[in-house]
Amino acid sequence: MTVTKEQVLAALARIPSPGGTALPDARVLSDVVVSDGKVFFSLTVDAATVKAWEPVREAAEKAVRSIPGVQSALVALTAERSPGSAAAGSRPVSAPQPRHAAHPADKVQPGIPGVDAVVAVASGKGGVGKSTTAVNLALGLRDLGMKVGMLDADIYGPSLPKLLAIKEKPETIGGTRLKPIQRYGLTVMSIGFLIDEETPMIWRGPMVMSAITQMLREVEWGKLDIMVVDMPPGTGDAQLTMAQQVPLKGAVIVSTPQDLALIDARRGVSMFKRVNVPVLGIVENMSYFLCPSCGTRSDIFAHGGARHEAERLGVPFLGEVPLHMTIREKSDAGLPVVATAPDSEHARIYRDIASKVLAQLKGGAGGKAAPKIVIEA
Ligand SMILES: Nc1ncnc2c1ncn2[C@@H]1O[C@H](COP(=O)(O)OP(=O)(O)OP(=O)(O)O)[C@@H](O)[C@H]1O
Ligand SMILES: [Mg+2]
Repeated sequence: MTVTKEQVLAALARIPSPGGTALPDARVLSDVVVSDGKVFFSLTVDAATVKAWEPVREAAEKAVRSIPGVQSALVALTAERSPGSAAAGSRPVSAPQPRHAAHPADKVQPGIPGVDAVVAVASGKGGVGKSTTAVNLALGLRDLGMKVGMLDADIYGPSLPKLLAIKEKPETIGGTRLKPIQRYGLTVMSIGFLIDEETPMIWRGPMVMSAITQMLREVEWGKLDIMVVDMPPGTGDAQLTMAQQVPLKGAVIVSTPQDLALIDARRGVSMFKRVNVPVLGIVENMSYFLCPSCGTRSDIFAHGGARHEAERLGVPFLGEVPLHMTIREKSDAGLPVVATAPDSEHARIYRDIASKVLAQLKGGAGGKAAPKIVIEA
C-alpha cells in the first residue's frame, strides 16, 4: 500500500496548532518526505513556544502512524532562534535541558548489535576540522582492514552528505528499518539524509535524542568493527546527553593549535570524562601551514599546542594534520584525501592517526586499560 504526501497532509489537517489553526496552515511545516512507508517532517516553531508545540508534535506523529500503510513516522520539533538570543557564529542555542549529574558506570548504554566499537570524533569548538578528520580517520581505519561505519550525529550541521558526496536518501528495508549508504567502503548514515539542508537545526534535546536513537537502532548497520561518530561541536548539555546516549568505546578530540581552541578541547576531554568515556587522544588539525605552490612550511598557529595540551591532560597525542589547500578542496568536493589520494603525505598522516586509534582500541581502551585522564579544575 503506497502512502502519499496528500494523505499525510489530510491527516495533519485534523490537528490544531496551539493557536487553533490547522497544522498545515500554521506555517511551521517543512516538506513532508514519504519514503517506502516511512514519513519524516519537521515543525519549525518559535523557541519561546516549544512547550506548547510538543503535544502537537506528538499528535501529528500519532495521526501519521495511523494512516494505513505507514510503517513509522518521525516528526522533529525544531526551535527557531529567537532574536537577541543568538550565540556566536552558527553555534546552536540549546533549549533548557535537565542538568546532568556526574555519570557513574550504570549509565552505560547497550551496544549496537553487530557493531564492535563506537568511537566519537568531537571538538569543543566548531569549525576546527572535526568532520574532515572523522571522515579521513574512518577511511584510515578502513585501510587497516577494518569494516567501518560512520554516523553523522552533528544535528546542527550534518556534513557527511557533502564530505562523501552523497545525494541519495537511504532506502527502507521491510518498511521499518533504514538501509545506510555505502561510500568508499564505508557504511554511512547521516541526520542530513533525513532532514532538509535548509531546516533550522536548533533541535530540542529530546528530539535530538529520538533521532539519534533511531539512527543507532533502526538502521541496518550490519557487521562493523568500528563505527566513527561525527559529534556536534561544543560541550553543552546537548553534546553531553549525546555522549551519554551513544554507547561509546572512546573519543577522539580534534583541536587547532590556538589557545582558544585548546581551552575548548580541554572542555571536550572533561566532558567525556564526566560520562566515563575514555579519551583515545587529541589530533592537532591545521597544525602548520603547507604552501600549496612551494611546499614551504610555516607554523602560523603556534604549532604544537595540542601536543602540549595532551601531555598536560595525560591523554595520548595522535598526530598533526597540516593546513593544506588539497585537504580543503578534496574534503569539500566529497573526495576525501585518504580515499582519493592514498599515496599522498596527507593520507599517510591520517592512516598513522588511525593506527594509533586502533592500537588504543585493541589495547583495551574502554575496558580496564583505559588511559588515565587527569583533569585540572
Ligand atoms: N587540515 C586541513 N587543511 C585545510 N583545510 C581544512 C583542514 N581541515 C579542515 N579543513 C577545512 O576547514 C573547513 C571546516 O572543516 P570541517 O567541516 O571538517 O570542520 P568541523 O569542525 O566539522 O566544522 P563544524 O563545527 O561546522 O561541524 C572545511 O572547509 C574543511 O575543508
Ligand atoms: Mg562538522
